Amino acid sequence: MALKITVIGTGYLGATHAAAMAELGFEVLGLDVVPEKIEMLQRGEVPMYEPGLEDLLRRHVAGIEGASGRLRFTTSYEEAGAFGDVHFICVNTPQKHGEYACDMSYVESAFDALAPHLTRPALVVGKSTVPVGSAARLAERLAAAAPAGADVELAWNPEFLREGFAVQDTLHPDRIVVGVAGERAEELLREVYATPLAEGSPFIVMDYPTSELVKTSANSFLATKISFINAMAEVCEAANGDVVKLAEAIGHDERIGKKFLRAGIGFGGGCLPKDLRAFMARAGELGADQALTFLREIDSINMRRRGHMVELTRDALGGGGFLGKRVAVLGATFKPDSDDVRDSPALNVAGQIHLQGGQVTVYDPKGMENARRVFPTLGYADTALDAVRGADVVLHLTEWREFRELDPATLGDVVAERRILDGRNALDPALWRKAGWSYRALGRPKA
Ligand code: UDX
Repeated sequence: MALKITVIGTGYLGATHAAAMAELGFEVLGLDVVPEKIEMLQRGEVPMYEPGLEDLLRRHVAGIEGASGRLRFTTSYEEAGAFGDVHFICVNTPQKHGEYACDMSYVESAFDALAPHLTRPALVVGKSTVPVGSAARLAERLAAAAPAGADVELAWNPEFLREGFAVQDTLHPDRIVVGVAGERAEELLREVYATPLAEGSPFIVMDYPTSELVKTSANSFLATKISFINAMAEVCEAANGDVVKLAEAIGHDERIGKKFLRAGIGFGGGCLPKDLRAFMARAGELGADQALTFLREIDSINMRRRGHMVELTRDALGGGGFLGKRVAVLGATFKPDSDDVRDSPALNVAGQIHLQGGQVTVYDPKGMENARRVFPTLGYADTALDAVRGADVVLHLTEWREFRELDPATLGDVVAERRILDGRNALDPALWRKAGWSYRALGRPKA
């Protein structure tokens, strides 16, 4: 009989994973402790913007016309325990308030709530990003609390999905990493992932601590690559070089590669920044802090970009204060094709300028609602054209396709000054300059 799967926590990771498991042919029960979230999902609605996710969900949610009916939702751990052969834990692990360390309370509550209902053989699979050592500890806790005892196993199976590509990354992962303590867990996970395995996704089996480390080290490497090119951007600015050309040229070396070498205002989002910090905190606890002190530098290069963008804006406005200046900000999300504004460099820059007296108007194709919630005192406009009306300077801070397709001449007619600063090195300088704009970007020569 086909395995029955539960997915605990229906945020970004969980909602996508649940829909993907249904797509792969399994009966799936998604659980969340927030009833409003469950009600939305039951209607086939996704609480965030993620291309393709709502369609995928609607193809499977029970009760929706034409859907397979393989995907249902609940708030009951008792129901989840009775239903599932494999339970995926997908709750979030935010940064603790006032500390670098990871807040494990949601993971711990999920395990504690599920365990007493595990009365028959089951595999619990952790997907959340956790500090190394957590899986071993949680395995003991599970064995002690689950009525089925040793028939309940734990595996760790980190998730590498990118926002904006979550559906694609989940259905066709570039690798499947599993940390296990026994062969049965590996067999069950091979069954769960039979379809991507048949497509050729590599399946890499390891112990618990290595699987936990794979995720944090992958994110640290990506962050390092971005901060590396941003450090080069700083040097380029000092030496009047061009970081975009530099990235293109070093990227041809296959050992370096072209991806993740886009210089700009740096990385943000719900993963990279907090994962770096949690990794440093955990290494400290393990007495290996020296090994990761370089990540402190990666973090500070990244945070410096935001301040630098503010200074570049000040400079573009003549070097004085922001008081009375109108600043248009294109982009609020931490990356395009997402409505996520968590630790968004764009919103951070907009906020800093606003707090220094600038009259900031923000426009973002999908992130307006979330941005308003986080920063209600900023000005917001319904279109890019409205945002730039009367602006003394325009900042391009999230590289949405919509912004690349803007017509510089049309915008030029409504701004007070044709000045644009490209914080993502994603616009075509020649196009803007031809239309009479002064174009500046991070890490590139002035004119
Ligand atoms: C990241 C990892 O890529 C993913 O594997 C992991 O599972 C979760 O964290 P995500 O947070 O969706 O995914 O964003 P990502 O695409 O990695 O971008 C992170 C940030 O880096 C964004 O703010 C983006 O704008 C920035 N970035 C990315 C750059 O500044 N330059 C680049 O070259 C690439």
